[in-house]
Order: sequence, then C-alpha cells, then structure tokens
Amino acid sequence: MKLFDVYPINPINIVRGQGSLVYDEQDTEYLDMYGGHAVISIGHTHPHYVKRLEDQLHKLGFYSNSIEIPIQKELAAKLGKVSGKEDYQLFLCNSGAEANENALKLASFYNGKKKVIAFTKAFHGRTSLAVAVTDNPKIVAPVNETDNVIFLPWADEAALAQAFAENEISSVIIEGIQGVGGIQVAPESFLQKIRSLCDEYNAVFIADSVQCGYGRTGKFFSQDFAGIDADIYSMAKGMGNGFPVGGIIISPKIQPAYGMLGTTFGGNHLACAAGLAVLEVMEQDNLMQNAAEVGGYLIKELKKLEQVKEVRGRGLMIGIELPDELAHARKELLFKHHIFTGEAKPNVVRLLPALNLTKAHADRFLEAFVSVLNQ
Ligand SMILES: Cc1ncc(COP(=O)(O)O)c(C=O)c1O
Repeated sequence: MKLFDVYPINPINIVRGQGSLVYDEQDTEYLDMYGGHAVISIGHTHPHYVKRLEDQLHKLGFYSNSIEIPIQKELAAKLGKVSGKEDYQLFLCNSGAEANENALKLASFYNGKKKVIAFTKAFHGRTSLAVAVTDNPKIVAPVNETDNVIFLPWADEAALAQAFAENEISSVIIEGIQGVGGIQVAPESFLQKIRSLCDEYNAVFIADSVQCGYGRTGKFFSQDFAGIDADIYSMAKGMGNGFPVGGIIISPKIQPAYGMLGTTFGGNHLACAAGLAVLEVMEQDNLMQNAAEVGGYLIKELKKLEQVKEVRGRGLMIGIELPDELAHARKELLFKHHIFTGEAKPNVVRLLPALNLTKAHADRFLEAFVSVLNQ
C-alpha cells in the first residue's frame, strides 16, 4: 500500500532528537527552530517527559471516559494554575481542529445562535466547521461550505461592529497571533473590541490558541497581552510536546450538560501524562520567561538586518518577512546550515522553536541566517 500523497516533504529522515537538536540517519545534526510546527514545547525527548509517559504506560495506557480518570483532574488543576484561568473548565480532545470544532459547537449550544465571525487569512483546522472558518478556499470542500460564517477584514473594528449589528452572532473566533497567515499579531484594541461586542450581544469569544498559546509568546495565552479574558480558549500543539492532545478551556459562565461534547480518545491516561509533564517542566524551568527573553533577543537582533522587510511576533513565535529575491532562504537554512524553520506564504520564515531554546542556539540561527542573507 502507498501513502496518500498529500504532503510536500523534504528528503530528510529524522531518527532522534534531544532538546532543540535533531539528527538524521547519517547522524547529521539539525537545529530545530520549527519545533515540528510549534509542537515541541519543552524540547525533544525531555527526560521528565519520557519518564512520565513511560511510568504511565507501565500502569495504564487507556480507559474510556466512562470511569473516573483522576489524572484528568490533575491536568486541569495544573493547567488552571499555570495559565492563571483557575475558574475555567477543561474539555480534552486530540487535535487543534477538534478543539475548534468543540469550541464553535459549544458556543452555539450556549446562545442558540448560528453565525460565526472569522477573519481574513485565519487558519483554524481542516475538519468541517474548523475549515469553514479558515480563509483558504483551496482546502474547503463543497461539503464544508456554509452560510453560517462571516469573514471580516483583519483588525477592522468598524466592520466588526457592523457585522454584530446586522447578524445574530454566536461566536467570534480569532488567533491572538495568526500563524499560517504569516505571524500577524492581533492589535490589543481589536481584541478588546471583540470582548466588548461579545458582551453586548451575548456572543462567545473563542481565542484560538492552538499555535500562539501555551506559553509560546511569554504569556500563557497571547490574548493575555490585551488584558482580556476570552470565553473559550482552544489549545493543542505544544500541549503534549508531540503526544496528540488538544483541548478547550471554558469560562464558568458556560455550563456543561451530559452528552453535549464527547470523545473516545480525548483525555486518555497517556495524553494526560504527556500534558502534565509539559506543564511541570514549563513551571519548573520558567519556560515562559525563557520564551520572552530568548524570543525578545531574536526579534531585536532580526530587526537590525536591513535585508529583512519586517519582523513580527512575540516571544518564540516569530515571522521574518523577506523580499522575493531571498525566497530561497529557508531551503538554504535547511540544506546548507541544517536548520529547520517554518514558512508562511509568500515569503515569511516562521520560527516556532521549543520554549527552552537557549541563547547559544538563537545565536547559531542568527549567524546562519545572516550568512544566507549576505551570500
Ligand atoms: C491556529 C491554528 N488552529 C488550529 C490548527 C489545527 O490544528 P490541528 O492540525 O492539530 O488540527 C492549527 C494548525 O496548524 C493552527 O495553527
């Protein structure tokens, strides 16, 4: 059987990793400034993570959500503490798209309304409603098309107010920093405007934090910079450091009912062990502070480079926009300097490394990047 060929792949076989370094089968070392797409939050094969998963696997890998699973409550308590949202409620699932599906559905259950506001260049996942609120017609199949989604221009407060006035809005979904859309930071005033309109019209504010959340920006949620609380935060990627874990945290104003949401695999014992290991390491090693410091350093240094068009982002979620003539930069970084980075169209290099990236590794990236720009 062949694989269904949907991914344009690089001819590299990574067989092991440690921290921010990964190695191919010839033992060539690569610096991972991409974190497998913002997933590796505490570094590859972190010893505490490996041990916690190993210990759990020896005890119990899985049992269904029909029994008590105390490790879920432990994860919820720890997540409440580390994120500062202690009065929120946690629902666990398996991926970012699934988290957003649940968030949008829950919002509609809550207020009985149907229309969702999303924004240009948004990416929220590839499943039914998640892809319908994603601004990329190429990945929306006819069956996903719906009249329930209103796309508005990014950061346009007047358009937002008008959409609320003219429609029965159930929810607004927004990434605090657009990832796939090219690392666009949502202006704080825009997030505040969403908050006040959602309050005025009894709509639900969904903060898609799948990529920009979980401490990557130096705060637990990037929307925290605006000093507001969303009603639902969706999370995945960094949550399990590679183990598939997703979830939403839900404001106390939204009450649960049996059967409202559900999943077979979500919140299984192994996933919770992975999630706890991540939060324990984040807390113990002050990883949010490290993300702010090393990320801030990278942004400051990158802004000094005159060939770069623009540097955007916060903490360790960084977009470097390059002119067309430097469109080859990512390939050069990968094949010549052995550094993984991410991309966003047309010419944005995305940095999404582990939150414990060291300054030495940041310098190794900067040195290679400068040499690519100058050749
Ligand atoms: C902001 C955002 N939301 C949702 C998703 C979908 O997550 P997943 O691929 O885990 O379904 C992604 C994935 O890139 C994302 O960046």
